[in-house]
Amino acid sequence: MAHSKVVLAYSGGLDTSVAIPWLKEAKRADVVALTIDVGQPVELEQVRAKALASGASSAYVVDARQEFAEEYIAPALKANALYEGVYPLSTALARPLIAQHLVRIARREGARYVAHGCTGKGNDQVRFDLSTAGLAPELEVIAPAREWGMTREEEIAYAEAHGVPVPATRASPYSTDENLWGRSVECGILEDPSVEPPEEAFGWTRAPTDAPDEPEYVTIAFDRGTPISLNAHRLPLHQLIASLNRTAGGHGVGRIDHLESRVVGIKSREVYECPAATVLIGAHQALEALVLPRDLLEFKRTVEQRYAQMIYDGLWFTPLKGALDAFVASTQERVTGEVAVKLYKGSSRVTGRHSPYALYQSKLATYSTGDQYRQQMAEGFIYVWGLPARTWAAVGADAAPKVSPSAKYRP
Ligand code: ARG
Repeated sequence: MAHSKVVLAYSGGLDTSVAIPWLKEAKRADVVALTIDVGQPVELEQVRAKALASGASSAYVVDARQEFAEEYIAPALKANALYEGVYPLSTALARPLIAQHLVRIARREGARYVAHGCTGKGNDQVRFDLSTAGLAPELEVIAPAREWGMTREEEIAYAEAHGVPVPATRASPYSTDENLWGRSVECGILEDPSVEPPEEAFGWTRAPTDAPDEPEYVTIAFDRGTPISLNAHRLPLHQLIASLNRTAGGHGVGRIDHLESRVVGIKSREVYECPAATVLIGAHQALEALVLPRDLLEFKRTVEQRYAQMIYDGLWFTPLKGALDAFVASTQERVTGEVAVKLYKGSSRVTGRHSPYALYQSKLATYSTGDQYRQQMAEGFIYVWGLPARTWAAVGADAAPKVSPSAKYRP
């Protein structure tokens, strides 16, 4: 592939920095670096300079925080997406967005290849590869870290030999990934799932025992399933999420210890900090409980599970995912209103909810004066509703289970 061009998803870390000279050497390719800001702590201009210093022929940087919030996080929130019931999919959601930008730049640059820094053991390779396939089947994906078989020490030696700037600070024992929707931590002592994650593994959340002794209430307003204000301040979604991460993180909210089932068949221990996601998903579920009927809630839960798994599995750009989006969007037409949440020493609890579309009607629910529910009608309803059970029991009276002879009844 002489003089071909490859667009590399570049974080500025060791793996993707080493990937630049490696792609030039092993694949004889010009490397275009692309760095996307999805809310991780990154100085875009510094990363761009590092990409060029490492040998990239050009370097793009994109602030995609608003796009990430509106096009990726918001749909996931509407679906209350939690993989295996606990993980808000923070890392997983950023991958299709990054892939989409890789494809855009590859087309603009006339590149036939895109590249990412994932190893062969994780989920992210699946997400990058499948998202690229779903958007641009003509492009080929290169994953240097899947091919090169270098240890960390060998990578550092390779970097030094190729003029890649290596940070002098001793690397942390943890591997982390951060964006607006959460922070993930793995490796080091966390690889022993019998050990409690040490305090040093956390970066966004205060230890619940050190959190303020006074609870704090936050109010979130939703418009058709999307949060639009925090404590009555209207904010663009990405700013609302960033602000809530700080507030809820300060109360120790959002720590998740997940024994996770990876797509590639490996079980892994993952620690997450997702303060805003924890609060917002809880609040969104509470609002849905107020405005959606039982059968829709129940059916939606099965869709939510499948939807979360599709995000996890890298199937964002697929027809089924698109169809499920349409279903979820149609369920959100009345998910408008306000939810109050109490943050206190690691917990996030809904304390109140309100909506113009509330199906909760006090004239039906009350046990006090003003009751308009017609209690007498319940008897007829139960007769008809129970008819199949009554008939079944009557026809099979002989087959009815016998009371165990050992059962003793005292008068
Ligand atoms: N296990 C998570 C996922 O598949 C996140 C992995 C992120 N990487 C990291 N170095 N912590 O979505």
